[in-house]
Amino acid sequence: MLDLTNLRDVLSAHYDLTPSPELAAEMQDVYARMDRVITPPEWAVFAPYVKAINALKKERGAVILGHNYMTPEVFHGVSDFVGDSLQLAMKAAEVEADVIVQAGVHFMAETSKILSPEKTVLMPDMAAGCSLAESITAEGIAEMRARYPGAPVVSYVNTTAEVKAASDICCTSSNAVQIVNAMEADTVIMTPDQYLAQNVAGEADKNVVYWPGSCIVHEQYTAQDLRDFREWNPGTRLIAHPECTPEVVAEADFSGSTSGIIKYVTDQKPEKAMLITECSMASNIADELPEVDFVGPCNMCPYMKKITLEKILYVLHTMDNQVEVDPAVAEKARQSVQAMIDLSRKLGL
Ligand code: 13P
Ligand code: SF4
Repeated sequence: MLDLTNLRDVLSAHYDLTPSPELAAEMQDVYARMDRVITPPEWAVFAPYVKAINALKKERGAVILGHNYMTPEVFHGVSDFVGDSLQLAMKAAEVEADVIVQAGVHFMAETSKILSPEKTVLMPDMAAGCSLAESITAEGIAEMRARYPGAPVVSYVNTTAEVKAASDICCTSSNAVQIVNAMEADTVIMTPDQYLAQNVAGEADKNVVYWPGSCIVHEQYTAQDLRDFREWNPGTRLIAHPECTPEVVAEADFSGSTSGIIKYVTDQKPEKAMLITECSMASNIADELPEVDFVGPCNMCPYMKKITLEKILYVLHTMDNQVEVDPAVAEKARQSVQAMIDLSRKLGL
């Protein structure tokens, strides 16, 4: 657990992090990417952190991999690469850097370490977990295998290294249907997201059986919520992540991974859009899409929101919070992740 008081003492001893309207003005080009969603006083607070992180990153030979659910100041201010979990995993495998700072949740950092064991992978906050990753262990995979003998196990990347190691192949929300269809068996076990599995089952040619895990952000939406949103704001395009229930996905106009959602809105440019997913998604694309009015409520992921500029600067400064994966587990887990990456590349995903 990070001690925030100590963290602030350490940082203030080494960096001038006083809010600065002058520095904010100097860094106007960076601010321009988020000025629709971040106010000038907020930017004056963030600018000194963004400047310090970007300078220290170079010194350390580090890259920051930022997930689409990061807040705009992390997403636009300091991330070298942004994307969904498949894109970030692919980038971790190929990026040339000594250090990766994972601006995302713990399973993403583990995936980076599994794919790049020679690199130092830093987590700004080790407590940034995921309700899906916490819902299943390797014993759960063994239980499913015993229940469905011979069925291959396709595990979502939102899992621990042990679970990946016990699985046959991984998937993400952007390739799940294709990965499941590529399995030879008629019955395929999907873990741990019951809703992603049910959504995949609706599109794949396989009998999909699944573990009962769920995402605490996406499971909150109901189909009735979507009908109410439509009535409240007619003409709004409703776009849902496939971790939502099949009823919600059926009610939406489009469903896709976080990058699939960004591509859809960028291509279609609906006048009004409501993203049935984590709150930062709409904030991160608002400036690039001034013609789209992002409306309606959203749900926050409490794990993703643990990642802040302050914690990123702290781990880069101290090199604390290095993610380690037992080499034997990592080797087996790498096979599952690499099989997914190879298949995704082959399919042009
Ligand atoms: P994506 O792979 O769509 O980015 O999803 C990751 C995630 O955690 C969604 O909740
Ligand atoms: Fe996990 Fe859901 Fe948060 Fe994604 S949004 S990290 S699936 S809890």
